[in-house]
Amino acid sequence: MLRLIVDIGLLFMLLFRTGNAMQSGKQKLVRSFEKYDKLLAPDGPDGEALNVTHDIDLKRIISLDNQVLVLDTFISMTWRDGQLVWDPAEYDGLEMIRLPSERVWQPDIMLENNANQFHGLHSGDINMVITYDGFVFYAPPVKIHSYCKVNYAKLKQGNVVTCKLTFLSWTYGGDVINLLSNNDAITTSDFDTHFNPQWQYVTSNVERDVKYYACCVEPYIKLKYVIKLRYVGN
Ligand SMILES: *[C@@H]1O[C@H](CO)[C@@H](O)[C@H](O)[C@H]1NC(C)=O
Repeated sequence: MLRLIVDIGLLFMLLFRTGNAMQSGKQKLVRSFEKYDKLLAPDGPDGEALNVTHDIDLKRIISLDNQVLVLDTFISMTWRDGQLVWDPAEYDGLEMIRLPSERVWQPDIMLENNANQFHGLHSGDINMVITYDGFVFYAPPVKIHSYCKVNYAKLKQGNVVTCKLTFLSWTYGGDVINLLSNNDAITTSDFDTHFNPQWQYVTSNVERDVKYYACCVEPYIKLKYVIKLRYVGN
């Protein structure tokens, strides 16, 4: 009887082990991240700035009333965090993990012409995807409220209005964070054209603005998304 119990026990142990190889790799990896310090901003390679890419995917134009443009978007950002590098061979072949964004350092990229009450960096507890080479992929849904000057008194059907969304790191200069865009325009892969009967998306482009000021040696980098919208109704 004892023998049988021991055999069954062994069998379960074997099943558990093979069936959960990934799980134990993940547990080991999560445990290794207990030393992770999110107060430490990652360094770029060889003393260079950390490249942070920033891109906007437009889902819906909510409104453009009272000089405020409201958009539903995903903002996708990537960067490499040297504290989050691992060797998959040591973790049962695990190459990717998801971690809650509040546990990981993130760049303080803000909308400069923000017209909304400020609620921290981004909405909600969105997971980040992290690959073994240390790359962090973060794509929170963001409802953008941005100032945009419109002369409503003169606005006629068919007029095109230009709005700018300016993003920058709130506290880091370009010597620490090098802000880049992967695309030369806003992407609209999943754009709902029928959502807003008043405003049509026409086109956009991204300008990367690098400025030096008298105070400081480091450059200040801004990404300006220039969006053209056509007024089609009232
Ligand atoms: C960072 O971006 C710059 C372009 O501004 C590029 O030349 C450089 O190779 C990038 N560095 C890394 C490590 O990807």
